[in-house]
Amino acid sequence: MKIIAYGMRDDEMPYLKQWSKDNGIEVKAIPDLLDDSTVDQAKGYDGAVVYQQKPYTASVLDKLASFGIKSLSLRNVGVDNIDADAIKRNGIKVTNVPAYSPNAIAELTATQLMRLLRKTNTFDRKIAHGDLRWAPDIADELDQMTVGVIATGRIGRKAINIYRGFGAKIVAYDIYHNPELEKEGIYVDTLDELYAQADVISLHSPATKENEHMLDDDAFSKMKDGVFILNPARGALIDTDALIRALDSGKVAGAALDVYENEVGIFNTDFGSFDAIPDERLKNLIKRENVLVTPHIAFYTKTAAKNMTQFALTSNVNLITKGTDESEVKF
Ligand code: COI
Repeated sequence: MKIIAYGMRDDEMPYLKQWSKDNGIEVKAIPDLLDDSTVDQAKGYDGAVVYQQKPYTASVLDKLASFGIKSLSLRNVGVDNIDADAIKRNGIKVTNVPAYSPNAIAELTATQLMRLLRKTNTFDRKIAHGDLRWAPDIADELDQMTVGVIATGRIGRKAINIYRGFGAKIVAYDIYHNPELEKEGIYVDTLDELYAQADVISLHSPATKENEHMLDDDAFSKMKDGVFILNPARGALIDTDALIRALDSGKVAGAALDVYENEVGIFNTDFGSFDAIPDERLKNLIKRENVLVTPHIAFYTKTAAKNMTQFALTSNVNLITKGTDESEVKF
């Protein structure tokens, strides 16, 4: 059996080599992403393991299928960049890694919330200019606040545990209710109820056609004044222009964004200087003391890199040998 792994980073390679040795399976690893210019390299392989944020297009998926590759294993969780029609048309089976490290995402989200509440960004900037005064930058305490968690999958639940460790009250919204959380009575029936109660909104939902720009002008208008917004999930969940308006008006007191709706081709790129970042709205956000932008790094831990690589390879073998895997994604 032969597997090709696209878009392999140096930090993933030791985990791939270990898996290959442990399982006695040959894996060809290449740094290139899977697109029209690289798809031919998959000829002769039985399955492909991939990670990228740019789209898996119909033409690439058609070609993979024409080479007889019907087993595609993503090293990440999100499947919003896959052409679902092409997957179905070609009978390609897809797996993802739904739980490479929910903790990784939850930990960064909570870290950024604490940084926002304690205004560390403001103090860092003041100190850099020799200003060591306290006022007027007095903080809020999470212990006294209500966190509204949108989506209570694995990541949302990890985040809830961390927020609870700080003493926060939790309200949650999800179409699917987790039985344990249901017993605790933390679910509200509508997003509007969550908006009305939450001092902090923590987004943990996948991106779908239905929830694009879930946080728009209308949603912000229903939130408490001075709400904090945390988005480690998907950029498309927030209408960036509406967020900027809400920051300008003070409706939103601070935001931590690990994702951004136009991040593809921008995040994980070195532009050499701040001015060279080719996105004015993103620069507008980064410049603000009360906005913490990170370039989609919440997942980027050693535990996650190991699990993403090794779980995806194992799922790919299952697809190739058994035609299915517990992480198969239904389109
Ligand atoms: C995902 O797993 O879908 C993520 O968003 C993390 C990705 C950048 C590797």
